[in-house]
Amino acid sequence: MTVHIDLGRMAGGVPAVMDLEELLATRLLVQGNSGCGKSHLLRRLLEKSAPWVQQVIIDPEGDYVSLADKFGHLVIDASAHSEQGLHLAGDRVRRHRVPVVLDLEGLDLEGQMRRAAAFLGGLFDAEREFWTPVLVVVDEAQLFAPAVAGEVSDEARKASLGAMTNLMCRGRKRGLAGVIATQRLAKLAKNVAAEASNFLMGRTFLDIDMVRAADLLGMERRQAEMFRDLQRGRFMALGPALCRRPQEVAVGEVETVSLGASPKLMPMPEAPAEDARALILTPPEPEQLTARARRLPPPPPPDILAQLAAARPAPILDPPPPTAEETQALRREWEEIVQAMLAEPDAAYRPVNTLYQDMLLRCRIQGLGSKVPDLAGFRNLLALLRAGFGGGMDERPEWPAVQAQAAVLPEDVRGVYLLLARAALESAPCPSDAEIAEVYGSRSLSRARRVLGYIEEQGAIVCRQDLSGRRIVTLMGLGCETAPAEAATLV
Ligand SMILES: Nc1ncnc2c1ncn2[C@@H]1O[C@H](COP(=O)(O)OP(=O)(O)OP(=O)(O)O)[C@@H](O)[C@H]1O
Ligand SMILES: [Mg+2]
Repeated sequence: MTVHIDLGRMAGGVPAVMDLEELLATRLLVQGNSGCGKSHLLRRLLEKSAPWVQQVIIDPEGDYVSLADKFGHLVIDASAHSEQGLHLAGDRVRRHRVPVVLDLEGLDLEGQMRRAAAFLGGLFDAEREFWTPVLVVVDEAQLFAPAVAGEVSDEARKASLGAMTNLMCRGRKRGLAGVIATQRLAKLAKNVAAEASNFLMGRTFLDIDMVRAADLLGMERRQAEMFRDLQRGRFMALGPALCRRPQEVAVGEVETVSLGASPKLMPMPEAPAEDARALILTPPEPEQLTARARRLPPPPPPDILAQLAAARPAPILDPPPPTAEETQALRREWEEIVQAMLAEPDAAYRPVNTLYQDMLLRCRIQGLGSKVPDLAGFRNLLALLRAGFGGGMDERPEWPAVQAQAAVLPEDVRGVYLLLARAALESAPCPSDAEIAEVYGSRSLSRARRVLGYIEEQGAIVCRQDLSGRRIVTLMGLGCETAPAEAATLV
């Protein structure tokens, strides 16, 4: 079943639709400066998808409690519950498939992080039979997954960052689909941002943010300036759930009110000054001190757990996990798709995000549905196939050692290491600078030599030349070396 969420309009009035099933598999990242319309966009997405998928909203400012009225979300006032209670609530939310707004307003940052972590942990730790799809929307995601340590305790930061990493990196198998919004990508932990394959980039002013947005969308850097001029409510969209090329989307209206809407200018009241003194400085009545200023629906009943346990639709059971043969067959199908992609001209120089989107599309065309690799898995496969490790490489006896050696190197040079390893294992000639550059995704031969130098500095390889100046690379830890390169290396 394909469900299309109507986000608004693209150029020429064409409807901008989002494929919900694809979104669940490939997650979404929204970036834009304050007031550009991120929360409005999330609200539109939530309203339009509410009939189709269970939703959990991590709401630091109590913006989304108004969804409860119209769509029946349970609002959990996080300040009224312990971390343990929220962990359990998270688990029950999955069991009973209750849509929820976790309202974190009124807590200090540390309290918000700890409680969000506990609740997300409960969602994540649910038993396999309850792994049904949930859209998990996190507004102001940089609060929960900050790029740098702030003033909160290490423990709170680790808990919250861990929960966000789990959501974005390991959530898909468990049915959790992260949708995160942030004012600045630079403030968001990289590993959390990296796992989204769909992007909606709104107005941003800082050069560095514009360039990052352009990079993520695969646009040229000279086009980055356009993000400065985007109007409120307009976003550049890209991703398998949205569109294959960057397109501008004007987000449509919403049905519920945002409690975070910008204050409107209004005439000043005409209160005489003497009343003002009394209005502001009269000592408070006792109940005024304690009553929490809730602005919308009545506070949730005290025992949210009992409420969660109330009758909900029976959970849909997942199909049984695939057998080893099925996994193997799927892997071969993925390999074939990636090989076909790599055979295309210039495939080596396209950004990995673009390739990944292509991969998702091809998987769909092949009828694989949601059986797609995640981004990390895809990068791995790409590195292996670029290095020439085709079908069955993981059955070679040396494979675990190669993998272990590659794993200690930074991700961007692993492909080159694998290329050298394959040549060494087959006693083939050492790859040329051009081959190395291509696997690295660059056209620069000097860059290739620098990468080689870097891997050597890490102690993973040793390069030397034979008497005729042809390079030989020895792989430390594997105890094998390549044959001399076909031509002498120019230095
Ligand atoms: N597409 C839109 N159509 C109409 N109004 C919009 C649209 N997008 C945003 N707005 C309005 O603009 C204001 C700011 O939007 P919003 O609160 O979504 O910004 P934001 O990006 O979430 O900002 P912040 O980062 O400060 O939370 C709100 O009053 C919102 O109702
Ligand atoms: Mg907002």
